Amino acid sequence: MEIIRTIEWMKQVARDARAKEHVLGFVPTMGALHEGHFSLVRAAKQECSPVVASIFVNPNQFGAGEDLQKYPRRFEMDADALEKLGVNYLFAPEAREMYPGGFRTLVSVEGLSDRLEGRSRPGHFRGVTTVVLKLFEIVQPQRAYFGRKDAQQLRIIRQMAADLNLDAQIVACSIVREPDGLAMSSRNAYLQDDDRRAATVLYHALSAAKKEIDAGELESARLIESMRRVFSSEPAATLDYAEIVDSQTLEPVLRVRKSCL
Ligand code: PAJ
Repeated sequence: MEIIRTIEWMKQVARDARAKEHVLGFVPTMGALHEGHFSLVRAAKQECSPVVASIFVNPNQFGAGEDLQKYPRRFEMDADALEKLGVNYLFAPEAREMYPGGFRTLVSVEGLSDRLEGRSRPGHFRGVTTVVLKLFEIVQPQRAYFGRKDAQQLRIIRQMAADLNLDAQIVACSIVREPDGLAMSSRNAYLQDDDRRAATVLYHALSAAKKEIDAGELESARLIESMRRVFSSEPAATLDYAEIVDSQTLEPVLRVRKSCL
């Protein structure tokens, strides 16, 4: 596996792959990799050659007072794991390579970015779409792999890809969970003992709603109430939002239907 630090070099590799009509698969990440990320890499390996992964902790998607400084960084371990999975190139630029002084352009997907997660994290998704578009321009993937764990991010990136006629086909991959149901996340590393146990309330709340849906309850208000009830049983957790939304518009729906989140 070749580690690439500069945009120019990465672009050259991408151009060569294109000239040879290879199908380049791309897995963008912020590092501190876990099985969730590895599942994306495995999917890419099955369908593409070469496979490029990126590790870039994108300062642009962290708000003031968020965890940019303490975001877990484990580059050597990550690189070893990616190499073992057969990744061909690891693109890992410094922040100043991606954002030299004078950087002024932001890419924003209107309407989808300011709700749900975006309401609590203003500017977050604008940072994500800006860096993902930059990464796509640099890596020139035919296929790019994203996790359904970040459902809103996936929806927004799909919208950007359609609106801007991007070449990359966006491939969605299933959520990978810990044995106790918590979705794997680099940020789970922040949680010790009691907080880690308490975090499973997320999964329990979702599972409670699923159980009710399976039993025929389709009214959003009732399902949201159940999720809130499960949540309030865990004193260490504070609920940001529990919503049931259309998977295209991300607007709340009154009743659960096929395509909702
Ligand atoms: P990061 O949080 O490192 O996640 C990289 C990719 O891994 C995303 O597509 C995310 O949805 C996926 N992923 C993370 N945990 C997962 C899990 N438990 N199951 C399945 N997939 C999972 O998301 C980002 O980085 C950044 O916003 C990025 C897109 C790289 C732009 O900076």
